[in-house]
Amino acid sequence: MRIYDIIIKKREGDELTDSEIEYFVNGFTNDQIPDYQISALLMCIYFNGLNMRETVSLTKAMMNSGEIMDLSAIKGIITDKHSTGGVGDTTTIILAPLLASCGVPVAKMSGRGLGHTGGTIDKMESIEGFKTNLSKDEFVENVNKYKIALAGQTGKIAPADKKIYALRDVTATVDQVSLIASSIMSKKLAAGSDAILLDVKFGSGAFMKTQEEAFELAKIMVDIGNDMGRHTKALITNMDEPLGSSVGNALEVREAIRVLRGESGGALLSLSIHLAAEMMIMAKEAEDTKSAMKRLTESIDTRKAYDKFVEFVFAQGGNTDMIKNPELLPVGKYKYEVRSSIEGHVNKIDASMIGQAALIVGAGRENKESKIDPGVGLILHKRVGDHVDKDEILAEIYFNDKSRLDDAVKKVFDAIKISNAKISAGKLILGQVSKDGIERF
Ligand code: URA
Ligand code: CA
Repeated sequence: MRIYDIIIKKREGDELTDSEIEYFVNGFTNDQIPDYQISALLMCIYFNGLNMRETVSLTKAMMNSGEIMDLSAIKGIITDKHSTGGVGDTTTIILAPLLASCGVPVAKMSGRGLGHTGGTIDKMESIEGFKTNLSKDEFVENVNKYKIALAGQTGKIAPADKKIYALRDVTATVDQVSLIASSIMSKKLAAGSDAILLDVKFGSGAFMKTQEEAFELAKIMVDIGNDMGRHTKALITNMDEPLGSSVGNALEVREAIRVLRGESGGALLSLSIHLAAEMMIMAKEAEDTKSAMKRLTESIDTRKAYDKFVEFVFAQGGNTDMIKNPELLPVGKYKYEVRSSIEGHVNKIDASMIGQAALIVGAGRENKESKIDPGVGLILHKRVGDHVDKDEILAEIYFNDKSRLDDAVKKVFDAIKISNAKISAGKLILGQVSKDGIERF
């Protein structure tokens, strides 16, 4: 087999066989095929696409390039959730203890944030002492004992995807639906859960800009998962404006604490409950959405979910005083209030630009080596549809480095559109995709 022939085949729009796909994935992972040939092949795939069989085959080859987690020592059905990027999306930190408090096991492996979207591991590490490098035994033991554990995804999971993604990132071949689907699913399948719930987002802050693209991506991922014997479902959700009001690591942990204590509601709570309800059903711990949502809501109202969060932080070595008194969590030294120059209604809050503003003050990574600043970020005071007076606060920016403020303020102003037109926020959950097909709500 020669990589040159595989490139020609895809250039001409022909189908690759399973063994050709395995050949290029393994050859590239083992450094036997150079970057430039895989770059050329990726560009052919970008233009000519992959059919479903090729996409499943690519997923399998990348999944099998590294370690496959065996979570069979954990009691119960393990469900995993994956969101396809988001801003102010703290759902994992809310739904994990929420599910655990209802007796549903949560064995969560998470990544770090890159670019304008935050990672759960980075957020949780803003809690002093919180340990995410659990050994396999500690991880399994904690889930069996507390029903919850969170660990950072190691480099041993799907190394082929890591290498291929790095190449896609610099060759303008990231946004191809089969490549995105196989990339995400190779890691999720290798992570060893029994069932997978996907939160596929669309809008300004997401990979997929339109609803239709999100349904298409979801359908492919759901088909891959079910094809490979894993119960997989997706919800299609709106990421036009940030989900919660806080963007930035410790600020998002604070917001999650407020939601878990029942002190904050809105889209963040609503989506967390919906996703958790689906996971509860997939774990066979509830019969239907209505009864699942009732139990989850009760768990928040009775503070069971919050108590579970405190226990979870304790179990992983974190300082629980920071949860009981969230003002002890890190916060930027300085605060700047962004105020509206006009009166009107909020028409748009561009999630991607808000994410970038948080990145500018140091909440995210510009590249893999950058260090994040846990206390910085911003808090939005308004949502789409809200009325604003002239000089009213739109957002607060928390920062440590004064030289970065002007750029961040400019981004926030660019992100928020205010006019006389009364506009209401779009629907939060647009539909679902399961092995039975697409259902629009
Ligand atoms: N996230 C991934 O892990 N892979 C992609 O290709 C896109 C988003
Ligand atoms: Ca099990």
